Amino acid sequence: MILFFSGTGNSRYCAHMLARLLDDECRDVFHLIREGIAGEFVSGKPWVFVAPTYGWQLPRVFESMIRSSSFSGSRDAYFVMTCGEDIGNASAYNRKLCQEKGLHDRGTLPVVMPENYVAMFSVPGPEEAAQIVAAARPTLERGAALIRAGQEFPHHKAGFVDKLKSGPVNTLFYRFLVKAKAFTVSDACISCGKCQKDCPLGNIRMEGGRPVWGKQCTHCMACICGCPAQAIEYGRASRGKPRYQCPDEQA
Ligand SMILES: Cc1cc2nc3c(=O)[nH]c(=O)nc-3n(C[C@H](O)[C@H](O)[C@H](O)COP(=O)(O)O)c2cc1C
Ligand code: SF4
Ligand code: SF4
Repeated sequence: MILFFSGTGNSRYCAHMLARLLDDECRDVFHLIREGIAGEFVSGKPWVFVAPTYGWQLPRVFESMIRSSSFSGSRDAYFVMTCGEDIGNASAYNRKLCQEKGLHDRGTLPVVMPENYVAMFSVPGPEEAAQIVAAARPTLERGAALIRAGQEFPHHKAGFVDKLKSGPVNTLFYRFLVKAKAFTVSDACISCGKCQKDCPLGNIRMEGGRPVWGKQCTHCMACICGCPAQAIEYGRASRGKPRYQCPDEQA
């Protein structure tokens, strides 16, 4: 069974493609995370966890969902992490998570997809993004072939910098950077409520037809990138930048 979390669609796209290639079931864990519900999953096929990379690890909200859920049937677990560049030493943390859950870690596959972190970096425009998405396809096909054959994903030996990024830098990243207070909304807002609906943490409420952000933010970028009026900014960092969303290509 493929279980995925996605802020701006890259991981959803990869999860759907893996599901097609593996002829397996695909589930979005958005509602489990939003409602704080523990999943009770049953499958005879390997577990394939698909999510973006946040600070060179799995998103904490996704990891917590895995930690609190139960998995009956297969004991094999694969991780597919979409990223703008690299996943650091994330595979070591995924292995530990498997040990805790009594799952058999079969490896972590990084898949380079378009950068979506508009609150920090530039994100690609539509043409460049389409090229990056197309280039990810062979990686996903190779990954699916390994899962189908019951083989492990290739192991990448983490270096000192990888360990630093996924370890102390990840801790500092969450402590100092992952905050919602820089979000603002402009008069372009059409009060559609999409940002509120799309937030996986229920961190946005509507007041007088405008979004107001609370403190439970994981910087998934769904609100700012999904706004149809491009009315949301993240301080000055997002100004003048294109927004990024992976087109939903579920066949
Ligand atoms: C909060 C945050 C942290 C990120 N950290 C990393 C990172 O450590 N390494 C990396 O290569 N990309 C990083 N990215 C880029 C995303 O992992 C990448 O664009 C991903 O495919 C987005 O997936 P989604 O569209 O399913 O949300 C980060 C993006 C966000 C929003
Ligand atoms: S998604 Fe954009 S337009 Fe819709 S309510 Fe939110 S800020 Fe306003
Ligand atoms: S407030 Fe926006 S960036 Fe933060 S978790 Fe919700 S949708 Fe994601």
